[in-house]
Amino acid sequence: MENLASKMRERLPAELIAFLRIAGEGAEAQGQRLYLVGGAVRDLLLERPNLDFDLVVEGDAPRLARQLAKGEGIGGENEKGGERVTVHRQFGTAKFRRGNLSIDLVTARSETYAKPGALPTVQPGTIRDDLLRRDFSINAIAIDLSPASFGQLVDPHGGRSDLEQGLIRILHERSFIDDATRILRALRYEQRLGFKLEQNTERLLREHKSMLDTISGDRIRHELELILKEDCPEQILERAQILGVLQQLHPSLRGNGWLAERFREARQKATPDPALYLLLLVYPLSEEEIEHLIARLKIVGELERNMRQVPRLKGDLTALADPTLLPSGVYRLLKHYPPGTIAACALACDSPIIRSRLERYLNDLRYVKTSLDGEDLKRLGVGLGPRLGKMLEALREAKLDGRVSTKEEEEALVHQWLGGNLK
Ligand code: CTP
Repeated sequence: MENLASKMRERLPAELIAFLRIAGEGAEAQGQRLYLVGGAVRDLLLERPNLDFDLVVEGDAPRLARQLAKGEGIGGENEKGGERVTVHRQFGTAKFRRGNLSIDLVTARSETYAKPGALPTVQPGTIRDDLLRRDFSINAIAIDLSPASFGQLVDPHGGRSDLEQGLIRILHERSFIDDATRILRALRYEQRLGFKLEQNTERLLREHKSMLDTISGDRIRHELELILKEDCPEQILERAQILGVLQQLHPSLRGNGWLAERFREARQKATPDPALYLLLLVYPLSEEEIEHLIARLKIVGELERNMRQVPRLKGDLTALADPTLLPSGVYRLLKHYPPGTIAACALACDSPIIRSRLERYLNDLRYVKTSLDGEDLKRLGVGLGPRLGKMLEALREAKLDGRVSTKEEEEALVHQWLGGNLK
């Protein structure tokens, strides 16, 4: 069996190795066995950086965590010297934080699924049970941290070989039925790592894609967010379209070339933002289709408002193409729309004039402020009431259109209005 102790020394921070050794010895002293599992092992073998470490103990994780928290160099239950440990007795888990390292400790468990899409029923188990409940062979590899076998690979499902061949492989035929979020996870890993779905895995994924309907909106949304946080989410969405997975979330969603171009452009302009990507994804949809998706994915808050405004703003865009439109007209059209929606429409629309007006509003017009405020207007003799608000708005429009630029010019305009009859 392969031993990874020297690779661990090469690739992982020394203080982490020291911690893993102490933790492995601590577990042994309690008659338990400790393992490093999941993504950290996969990425160690692939020589990719990963600072999220999952530890699995055959026995009782909180018991080991409390023991380690007392030991030298590990913070207590509260923050201390940048280290922190939190124990959740109820869930049998503990978390250590050290700078940007995050270490989760859980009890090894076996899982059974009462029905598709439900969260699993869990019982304490062995490391092999714990690996068997996992999604793909490349995530079902462990490294033994026991003192006598420190660094030994535990690889019951051929994960090492799949890493070498670049394959995403499920562990058993019912995997996607038990947990259909794995359908989305499979596509995410495939693109991130430049891997391929193993043949039988792809067949079962296609066959069982309708099981996505058994997954709650919150869980689907979480997976979609993870996809949109990847470096090139458009590739995952394209693959999801080819396999019919995207259409399973909503029949009108498309991961096509149009979308890919928009995503790339969004990345060139600024740091990628999953919310902006999602607004671009729903841009081609109708109001009704967007409502359906908001309900299905349980989208709330600012993103819900921004999504809902997309079809409305789309309907208003043609008015922005009028060449005679002044900046104040652009402002009036856009002032009630959220900036997130406007940013998405600016990327999505094809007309250069509309796009440049949306951008001008976002970068400039929406920040234009008059020199005079309400108090100044009162001082100049404008009484309280709707007229004051109207006058402030008219002043802002005058400033937007360049009819006034200094405070004195604004005051002169107000005097002119007071002499006339702007109601
Ligand atoms: N896991 C699983 N099935 C899921 C979610 C997670 O089997 N639906 C397992 C996998 O073994 C995975 C581990 O739990 O490796 C941790 O999950 P997560 O943190 O989501 O994945 P990582 O492998 O750490 O990958 P990432 O780099 O995307 O964080």
